[in-house]
Amino acid sequence: MKNGIKLSRGATLVLITITGVVGYYFATNSGQASTNKVSPTLPLSDDALKAATQSMRARHPDMSSDSTANMIDLGSKLFVDKGFSSNGEVACSTCHQPETSFTDSKPTGAGIAVGGMNTPTIINAYAGHWFFWNGRADSLEAQALGPVENPGEHGFSRGQVVRRLIEHYKTPYEALFGPIPPEATNSEQVFARPASKPARVSHEVAAYALATLGSPILQKSILHEAQSKSLQPVEILENMAAGSAEKPTAFDQLPEVRKAAINNVFRNFGRAIAAFERTVVTTDASFDRFADRFSGVDNPTQALGEGFGEPELRGLRIFTGRGNCVLCHQGRLFTDQQFHNIGLPPVKSDSVDLGRAQGMLIARGSEFSCLGTFAAQDTARMTTSESCHELKFIETESAEAVGAFKTPTLRNLRDTAPYGHDGRFPRVRDVLNHYNNLGTVNTVGHTEDSLRPLVLSSGELDDLEVFLMSLSSTVDFYKAH
Ligand code: HEC
Ligand code: HEC
Repeated sequence: MKNGIKLSRGATLVLITITGVVGYYFATNSGQASTNKVSPTLPLSDDALKAATQSMRARHPDMSSDSTANMIDLGSKLFVDKGFSSNGEVACSTCHQPETSFTDSKPTGAGIAVGGMNTPTIINAYAGHWFFWNGRADSLEAQALGPVENPGEHGFSRGQVVRRLIEHYKTPYEALFGPIPPEATNSEQVFARPASKPARVSHEVAAYALATLGSPILQKSILHEAQSKSLQPVEILENMAAGSAEKPTAFDQLPEVRKAAINNVFRNFGRAIAAFERTVVTTDASFDRFADRFSGVDNPTQALGEGFGEPELRGLRIFTGRGNCVLCHQGRLFTDQQFHNIGLPPVKSDSVDLGRAQGMLIARGSEFSCLGTFAAQDTARMTTSESCHELKFIETESAEAVGAFKTPTLRNLRDTAPYGHDGRFPRVRDVLNHYNNLGTVNTVGHTEDSLRPLVLSSGELDDLEVFLMSLSSTVDFYKAH
């Protein structure tokens, strides 16, 4: 197939034309269903376990946020201010609540409306590379601008942000970023947000997604819609994934100079919030204290202690051995900062989420990404940002990206239920059961080859679960005076 799409499991899409109606045969993707063998990975030696443990031990930079105290203080206020929403009731902290490690205990986030994605934690976000489950933001600064204009979250607009900053934060804002230019504050205010531009995956990527689609109900509704609209099923899938194009709004029709002035103030708003978010860090968990003790002894059993006993150690051995979890959940934040398809079948019948395949296109097209006209990060950050370098060379025609989502951190799972990008798993145990069995149905795209059903006993799953819980700790963050 052209454009380097690798159909790694040989999934095929067969077009059948019967009396002018185009039908699709959804080829099954061999693989997970039949591989019912135990993962072959061996347990690590004590030395290797020690090395793995040290690599996962939390280490924070002296100052997680290198921003000025005044910027952090302003950001902390913006984070909790419900005035930045269309109904006066939604702030970032509505969904990112400090008591639950900055999550909301709901399957999917709810602001102005209930959304379709689970609210991730923002703990240790200072170390993140990509943000959102599909990684559509390449910096914490750019991320912060998304929810504000999302009609289902804050339902606000950048023009309204400028107005509120002038009315309530003029002095601290201008002390940090300079005067708000008259072009942004024109008395004739425009409060429309820009029209959203759908990011469409290529025809090849869409065809691949269609061929691997694991939901019979969704397949049926796509075929049905294709027939009723006289379109190709693949076009229906493309539209579903991208969302519909909006008509240009009053903001889009503003003179460039005004748009630019508003965008600049808006990105500074993102900078202040990001400065606060960088202060949100976890402290030492029982696991980290175990790691410290282990560094001074040869045998891990000599390092056991409060909150980390035999069961946690057995769980750690599974995590780093048979479970092979460290393949993706690695390092001190237990994430490789990458995107993977772990084989979750689509649950909705009227929409499909292509995950990273969509996210990378949005990041590429964003005016606030490091390649955009209004790069939200400051220059100093951009030069050290890994996602910024990656973004330039990203492979947008990748089959691997279809149905792949960001590897979430495993710190503070105690507080962050429910789990998964769409909050489908109420308990940690449900996630573990998924890895233990792996579904027999296809997902969208293909489940990563490294994943095999683990076939752990329920006692072993208990151990893995208590180990995961030992990664929880209190959360430190800047509190305004
Ligand atoms: C209505 C609930 C809601 C509100 C309000 C909200 N968020 Fe979120 N936040 C979410 C959800 C849901 C996601 C994941 C969305 C996705 O991936 O598509 C998310 C993602 C994030 C992420 C990315 C985390 C990661 O690991 O990828 C950060 C950071 C974040 N939000 C910060 C903020 C900030 C800052 C604000 C205020 C400007 C805010 N959020 C407002 C629900 C909310
Ligand atoms: C191939 C990479 C990969 C491997 C191996 C892997 N994970 Fe994951 N994990 C992910 C990704 C990606 C997600 C998010 C998936 C989604 O929601 O679509 C995830 C989600 C999770 C979650 C949910 C966290 C949350 O906040 O929603 C838990 C818990 C978890 N994994 C634990 C484990 C354990 C335990 C193992 C080993 C048995 C493991 N993972 C192996 C990539 C991986």
